[in-house]
Amino acid sequence: MYKNSLVSIEDLSNEEIEDILDLAQEMQQNLRAFPTLASGNIMASLFFEASTRTRGSFESAMNRLGGRTITTTGIGSSSLEKGETLADTVRVWSSYSDLIVLRHPWEGAARLAVDYASVPVINAGDGGHEHPTQTLCDLFTLRAEKRNLEGLKVALCGDLKHGRTVHSLIFGLLRFGAELYFVPGEGLDLPEHVKTKIEAQYKRPIEKIPAGDFQALYGGQTGGSQDGEPLDALYMTPSKPHLRTLFEDEPNFEFKTSPGREVVFYVTRRQTERETGSPSAQAPVGKYPRISKATMKKRFSRATVLHPLPRVDELSYDMDDDHRSKYFVQAAYGVPVRMALISLILELKPWKKAGERRAESQVEEPTIVATQGIECANPNCVTNRESQSCESRFLVFTEPQVRFTCNYCGWEIAPIFYGTQQRGRKIYKPIGKLRFKSQHQLFQFRFFCSEDEALGEGFVSVSSAVETAAPVFEVKD
Ligand code: CP
Repeated sequence: MYKNSLVSIEDLSNEEIEDILDLAQEMQQNLRAFPTLASGNIMASLFFEASTRTRGSFESAMNRLGGRTITTTGIGSSSLEKGETLADTVRVWSSYSDLIVLRHPWEGAARLAVDYASVPVINAGDGGHEHPTQTLCDLFTLRAEKRNLEGLKVALCGDLKHGRTVHSLIFGLLRFGAELYFVPGEGLDLPEHVKTKIEAQYKRPIEKIPAGDFQALYGGQTGGSQDGEPLDALYMTPSKPHLRTLFEDEPNFEFKTSPGREVVFYVTRRQTERETGSPSAQAPVGKYPRISKATMKKRFSRATVLHPLPRVDELSYDMDDDHRSKYFVQAAYGVPVRMALISLILELKPWKKAGERRAESQVEEPTIVATQGIECANPNCVTNRESQSCESRFLVFTEPQVRFTCNYCGWEIAPIFYGTQQRGRKIYKPIGKLRFKSQHQLFQFRFFCSEDEALGEGFVSVSSAVETAAPVFEVKD
């Protein structure tokens, strides 16, 4: 965890996740058993976007622990309305509290808040980016229902493009060895940067598979000629997990294109509020997977249905009394899970399994650099919304090729050229030729996503430099 804060599910090691879930399980036995644990502490609950469950359960959790809560809801009731920056807002609130819980419509808002707060920050949802505490609730529910997370078959359904709960959950599940199926609404497939991360960092190939039984969720029939017809965007990650800590034994993975009756459906609504201003805002609702008694029938007789809620019409009310439905239990688990998280972050309870290993990363360790010449392409990224408070910073990955991932919102940029000085000449070269040994060296370069950008800044291509000048030597990076 960075600065004892939680911005992304990837900030947590597997051991930290286990510690949170274990403590949540203990607290769930009797929510009233810890009435003074957090006494003397104040939690600032800053919700600049609507919420029922996250705010309610965080505040209930702090009250159960004997702490106090101060709160603000909606941008209109804060001085953000008058033009105050988020950075200043967070700086001030952290002088009033011991912990900040922040929900904000901008992607990367929580990462920015960590930079300015003097107390720990918990991301309660930042735009379409991440919602790590929802993932903790989801994992807790799955562990309670299924005992093991490893080998679970989970079908993520609906708005995979904008769904922050889905993005966080994918990385949580992959780390514990789940097998994932993606069942998106039409035009609402996973963002490219999430797909790249699954494949490049988590080493889990994504493959298109026949729709099989999932066809029924879109209103189609299974069996007959439709059975096995490929949908345009239905994928799974079939390989073994590369990270395991929960379980000792190697699981017996079996590749199947049909998930079987025990699949977990994680259903999400269409996030129309995140489509504003985009071309899809005007697009009619296309095919969208829906869960009802009719679409589930007996083919998924032992399935589990989860939903982070709120629901709109993708999850029928006729499922509410169905034994497979666990979404209200999932919402209720928000209290013990957040009680546990608050207790551990405020160091009112010890980290047991994580112990001294808390800072260990579970995935390829990237280099973080402030780069010259490139900016995040996401218009809703905090670096573009409040540029005076943060400079563009990127995590740099080199496999399978050089990629820059925005340190705030996770969007990816793959520059095509880099620029460097050679014998006083400004030369640009294909990114494939870039070699560097340390983070510091990256500051020497400029990066370009097109030839025009490089030419516009007065760089010349390495080939034209060869034609017009003395021999060009490779830079000894
Ligand atoms: N699951 C969830 O984040 O719900 P709210 O938006 O109501 O907090």
